[in-house]
Amino acid sequence: MATGSKTAERDDDVESREAVVERLLASMTWEQKLAQLQIGYRPRLEEAKELVRAGIGGVFWPRSAAAANELQRAAVEETPHGIPLLIGLDVIHGQRTTFPVPLAQAASFEPGIAETDARISAAEAASGGVNWTFSPMIDVSRDPRWGRVVEGFGEDTRLNSVFGAAKIRGYQGDSLADDNSILACAKHFVAYGQAEGGRDYNTVDVSVQRLRNIYLEPFRAAVDAGAASVMAAFNTVSGRPAHVNEDLLTKILKEEWGFEGVVVGDADGVQNLMAHGVATDIADGLGQSFRAGLDVEMGGNVVDTDGNTPLSPAEVPLQRVDDAVRRVLRLKHSLGLFSNPYRDEASEILAPSGQSRAAARHAAEKSIVLLKNEDALLPLDPAPKRVLLVGPYAASSDHLGAWVQSFAEPAGTLAEAIRAECPDWSVTVMEGSPFFQSDPALLDAAVAAAAEHDVVIVAAGEPSALTGEASSRSDLRLPGGQEALIAAIAGTGKPFAVILFNGRPLVTSAWIDLAPSVLEAWHLGLEGPAAVARTLTGAANPGGRLPMTFPRSSSQIPIYYDHENTGRPASISATLDEGDIDVGLMGPDNLGDVFTSKYKDLPLGPQFSFGHGLSYTTFSYGQPQLATEELPLEALHSGTKVSLKIQLTNTGNRTGDEVTLLFIHDRTASLAQPVRRLRAFTRTSLDPGQTKTLEFSLGWEDLGFWDNEGSYLVEAGEFDIYIGGGLDDTAHHVLRLTQ
Ligand code: NOJ
Repeated sequence: MATGSKTAERDDDVESREAVVERLLASMTWEQKLAQLQIGYRPRLEEAKELVRAGIGGVFWPRSAAAANELQRAAVEETPHGIPLLIGLDVIHGQRTTFPVPLAQAASFEPGIAETDARISAAEAASGGVNWTFSPMIDVSRDPRWGRVVEGFGEDTRLNSVFGAAKIRGYQGDSLADDNSILACAKHFVAYGQAEGGRDYNTVDVSVQRLRNIYLEPFRAAVDAGAASVMAAFNTVSGRPAHVNEDLLTKILKEEWGFEGVVVGDADGVQNLMAHGVATDIADGLGQSFRAGLDVEMGGNVVDTDGNTPLSPAEVPLQRVDDAVRRVLRLKHSLGLFSNPYRDEASEILAPSGQSRAAARHAAEKSIVLLKNEDALLPLDPAPKRVLLVGPYAASSDHLGAWVQSFAEPAGTLAEAIRAECPDWSVTVMEGSPFFQSDPALLDAAVAAAAEHDVVIVAAGEPSALTGEASSRSDLRLPGGQEALIAAIAGTGKPFAVILFNGRPLVTSAWIDLAPSVLEAWHLGLEGPAAVARTLTGAANPGGRLPMTFPRSSSQIPIYYDHENTGRPASISATLDEGDIDVGLMGPDNLGDVFTSKYKDLPLGPQFSFGHGLSYTTFSYGQPQLATEELPLEALHSGTKVSLKIQLTNTGNRTGDEVTLLFIHDRTASLAQPVRRLRAFTRTSLDPGQTKTLEFSLGWEDLGFWDNEGSYLVEAGEFDIYIGGGLDDTAHHVLRLTQ
């Protein structure tokens, strides 16, 4: 099965697995089969136990190895077939040791960071009896209003594909049967990130080409990486809710891609079909969902505590139910649950270790993005004597981010971390502004204090409660009086840096030009404060890049780097200056550029592009060398790759990391193509003066696109190849594909 492809199941294991599965299936009743197709969504332990005795196949984690063992024992010893349980939990970016939020991890452009998080999180969770996580989320999204962008890997399809696969490798390890491996779940299938208006759960209407090129690709990569499960999304896709979408769940996922794992519904996703207005009652919803290809319902509607089901055999073909049960039982077997479903309670991991903390700190340092650094204000080296640390994040411990476990090790504050990291600094800590209101007295006190200090650090951001599921925002500016705080500190004339703690791109236009230096520090997890403190001193050198565009205004959304050109691309910014209305309406900049695609009251482009990020050192690139400038399509199709080399040198005086991005642009094609598409990236650490040759290759899967009939096309013609440190900073080559 697909789950075995990367998880090394031996042939004899597969044989014995199939024998176990078929023996069980042959002796199960309709109700017993259906009971395997349900994961009880957060029942209390006693209620869970009743469901388990009724034969339910999966439950949410009951919060300890002992309780998990108790439920497994009930399943094995008190049910007719003794089938062990799938025990699920959202282990998103940590269990006991919290890593940076996934969006921040994407900013590292280093997939190993995500793989390590998943490996450590899997070991911690598995030790307590969890065997299934509902992660990774690989919903591409170009709408930062959507709170769930924090859970994913940003706006780019390739970045989501690569990071999603890394997470899956980390969770599932070399073998699912290993003690510290758990099942991964690629979610949410599909196009959830395109919710209209960025409002969670909202409608998605999407063309076939966009669905395939943008939203399905990361899932295809997840299936290739051996993902054991896929979760259906809450949203409709062009009118049809994902849970009942046979084209998606069966035709594409299972038939076209050969996915052999389990499709699980989202929490109450079947129940929600009635609100969507496509099912009359729960039996109808269940029937439609299972027929469409759902294998496991999340919620608790399939069987009740007496083992009864509302679903009659007339509503779903037995063959389909058998297929779903087989998928579930195979996963249980692959996990080794039939041999031993129990965990050693004494070995349950209840707290981070030195090693897991070090990995979390490394991840946090790699995820920080230096947005601005005028006059090289950062790092603060030589050390300043008197530092004013001001802002609602100065003394806040809200660093773990959305989807954190309530039992995770809590983070400390930035103030504590700076004092620990920099014992020689004299640090004054002030609030300056609460998160959600303005407070003139706090503001005045901060301004007065600034005069007494050498440098000011403003710790600003959006609290994690504003990010994640059901946390869409319409206004992406810093909430409360934080913008006023930054402006007031700027007014003091003191050198200052702003550190942003947030879970999505923010709109910074009101203050960004006032701030000499800005660090994007996201919600970085348990070791976030220490990582930021080390970045302030220069012990760590920021090398992350933005995985999502930062707009100038929420009204620009959706704004993303891989847009199509339109027939009338704008090349000159609009200039509707205040008090200059006549000029602004028509020009002068706009005079030759009136009928083009832009806003008359905003400069062109975003505040910060996808891929933007600075360093404390500098890098330079040599001339890229393309192995060939012309290649017949046939050669490409039969596996020839176009290789590209480029030299990278650290030209500054600090060790640092450079992210190199390789984009393509198909100049003329049968469908309008994006102006750039990321095809490859790598992050390189170099000492001062050190040079390294980087190598990339482009193949059949990199140079084509999906059309509206669902065919993958690579067309002859000219391709621009851009390589370098960012969108605006690239060397250019042309590759010609010939018939
Ligand atoms: C709803 C979320 O959409 C999904 O991502 C999560 O896995 C489930 N709840 C279970 O908690």
